Amino acid sequence: MKEIIAENYSIFFNDNGYDALTYHLKSYNYSKIFIHLDTNTNKYCLNVLLNKVKINDFETIISKDGENYKNIESCMLLWEKLSLLGADRKSLIINLGGGVVGDMGGFIASTFKRGIDFINIPTTLLSMVDASIGGKTGIDLGVLKNQIGTFYDPKMVIIDSTYLKTLSQTEIRSGYAEIFKHSLISDIELFQRLIFESNNNVLYNDKVIKGSIKIKNDIVLIDKKENKERKALNFGHTLGHAIESFFLKSEKRLLHGEAIGIGMILSSYISHKLFDFNSTNLDLIKNHILNVYKKINFSKMEISKIIELLKHDKKNSHGNINFILLREIGVPVYDIQVDSKMIVDSFEYYNN
Ligand code: GLY
Repeated sequence: MKEIIAENYSIFFNDNGYDALTYHLKSYNYSKIFIHLDTNTNKYCLNVLLNKVKINDFETIISKDGENYKNIESCMLLWEKLSLLGADRKSLIINLGGGVVGDMGGFIASTFKRGIDFINIPTTLLSMVDASIGGKTGIDLGVLKNQIGTFYDPKMVIIDSTYLKTLSQTEIRSGYAEIFKHSLISDIELFQRLIFESNNNVLYNDKVIKGSIKIKNDIVLIDKKENKERKALNFGHTLGHAIESFFLKSEKRLLHGEAIGIGMILSSYISHKLFDFNSTNLDLIKNHILNVYKKINFSKMEISKIIELLKHDKKNSHGNINFILLREIGVPVYDIQVDSKMIVDSFEYYNN
């Protein structure tokens, strides 16, 4: 499988990735190599990596698993550990894990000694098709996601679907939301194929993963700093993030993909109302997402609290709630302000 070229790095697939990593380690002669893991990937993925590639003399740095630990306290522990273990400006961090490991590992790499090299080896579907690509690093601020961060590219990304064998179906479904989103913002044929394949219980394969990464990479190549086109990647996320944050500490807690799935239904409804987005496609999207994810019922009180939370979303500017909507599949519209009444209506469309 051929690699995908990003702005300052390449995205390699399967064994090509490990060959590229071996070559990279030889040519860069790093002073120290740190493999950043969480408690899960330490248990299930590190041995997979070490069976595929020989890495001499590395140390592991381990974060606690989960979004709850994607914060400055975890970063402090990682920076301290790096310092204690003698990391210097010529050290390398290899992030082996999901979005939290990649985002936080990228962030500590971008700030430690004003920036050291890092490599992403994502182990979840979600981080393969989204977080590991595009040079965003970051951590959460309380329940507000990715409020603190940098743009900082890895030296390479290695995509190996072997790691997905360690994942539950629920986690696969979580990643699938971003694959589906990529189809909605850019590719009607992929949209139709995904709906067809999911009816046959196929949520991913190597071709779908690569195609999805290519869609994201092409967008990032046009607009890395998210002035316009990259905003399309936030389709479904304005409401999705607020829903995810709202339930973060409750027993109704949702996976990222579940929340984004709901966000995409709501945004498609608003697109239909404001931009005449095709109603057949709107219903197809709703049915498809509800086929993949369980349905949540939102009370009036929950809806108004979620709308409150929206005001903190990082994609808002000048105090307005900005949405990415769709004119049609593959045709996003940017920076649309939506009033609260329309948002409430979209929840009603979801609820019914
Ligand atoms: N996950 C959205 C982006 O990378 O821009």
